Amino acid sequence: MIRYTETVRVLKNEALTEDIFLLDLQTDKIAEEARPGQFVMVTCRDESRLLPRPISICTSDIQRGIITLVIRRCGKGTAEFARLAAGDSLQVLGPLGNGFPTEKAEGRRALLVGGGVGIPPLLYLAESLPCEKDIILGFRNADTFLTEHFALLGNVHLATEDGSLGTKGNVLDCIRQEQIEGGIIYACGPIPMLRALKAFAQEKNLPCYLSLEERMACGIGACLGCVCRASSPDPHFGTETRRVCADGPVFEAGDILL
Ligand code: FES
Repeated sequence: MIRYTETVRVLKNEALTEDIFLLDLQTDKIAEEARPGQFVMVTCRDESRLLPRPISICTSDIQRGIITLVIRRCGKGTAEFARLAAGDSLQVLGPLGNGFPTEKAEGRRALLVGGGVGIPPLLYLAESLPCEKDIILGFRNADTFLTEHFALLGNVHLATEDGSLGTKGNVLDCIRQEQIEGGIIYACGPIPMLRALKAFAQEKNLPCYLSLEERMACGIGACLGCVCRASSPDPHFGTETRRVCADGPVFEAGDILL
């Protein structure tokens, strides 16, 4: 796997909601290599925060060498990223992880299901899948983001916890109420959402690929700080675990225990 450590330049920092912001970063090689579902490790400029942060690649403009990241401000590191301005620079390692297996959607209608900050990596996937797709997005309330981008790429269905937009409830409530059908599921979001989708896919006998969000230290498979439980022994280590950063973050639903 090819990955690069680059000092990238911030081209744009745009607030999408009060706590969600979008960064366009000018890269040298990372954009060209990035595939849907991969991520980068972004190093904080404040050296008191040593660990880099894993951030999903929202989309990649190969021609111009730009990657887009969408980040929720939820701690000191991400608050620092939220203050970045055009012209600032950052250290980024990537692209990392396996990404979504786009070839599995061939000849099928795809359901792309995202919740919260699990939504951004589905954008590059939606851009890359040539098949018909329904895109089901779950939010807490009407503070949505990226929905207009997804609307250009497929049928968008919204679920909100407070019922202010779309189906009241979660993404699975939306799929069932709107009777959305497909031949394959790709999803990213919180564990309870992924657990419910895994059960739904088993019930419908559908292939299902889940992208996990996990705290990470190294991002390259060295520290074992990001393991999840697996349904079979790891071929290298013999343990019934997988490293989310190096073996994932995307897993076939049946391969992991949630
Ligand atoms: Fe170090 Fe995954 S973060 S092994």
